Amino acid sequence: MIRVNFKSHNKEVVCSKGENLLEIARNNKIFIDAPCNGNVSCGKCKVKLLKGKVDTEKTLHIKDEEWEQGYILACNTKVIEDIEIEVPSKLSSSMHGMKIEGSDKKKDQEIFDRAKK
Ligand code: FES
Repeated sequence: MIRVNFKSHNKEVVCSKGENLLEIARNNKIFIDAPCNGNVSCGKCKVKLLKGKVDTEKTLHIKDEEWEQGYILACNTKVIEDIEIEVPSKLSSSMHGMKIEGSDKKKDQEIFDRAKK
């Protein structure tokens, strides 16, 4: 058994050696953007390897500096030992950005109250 620690989600799961990282995430309800459904063609399933080694290949979707920082494509990665990874959260960061830009609690409350009527 191998442990995969999704640091970004504060969740550790166990899997078998050789399992695909995208499948592991899906099986454990961890969302990784994967529009091409794991065909190694969209480059959206990029995650960052923080600890451990994996069986993966650098693709055109990963820039040299990203590769040096540990970025890999989840769909193109097999787990071979205990690892720690970080899943970039584009959805939550964009939502966070929206909150910051329009941050006016009084206005937000007014909009919320109006919506309730
Ligand atoms: S899911 Fe598209 S490249 Fe991995």
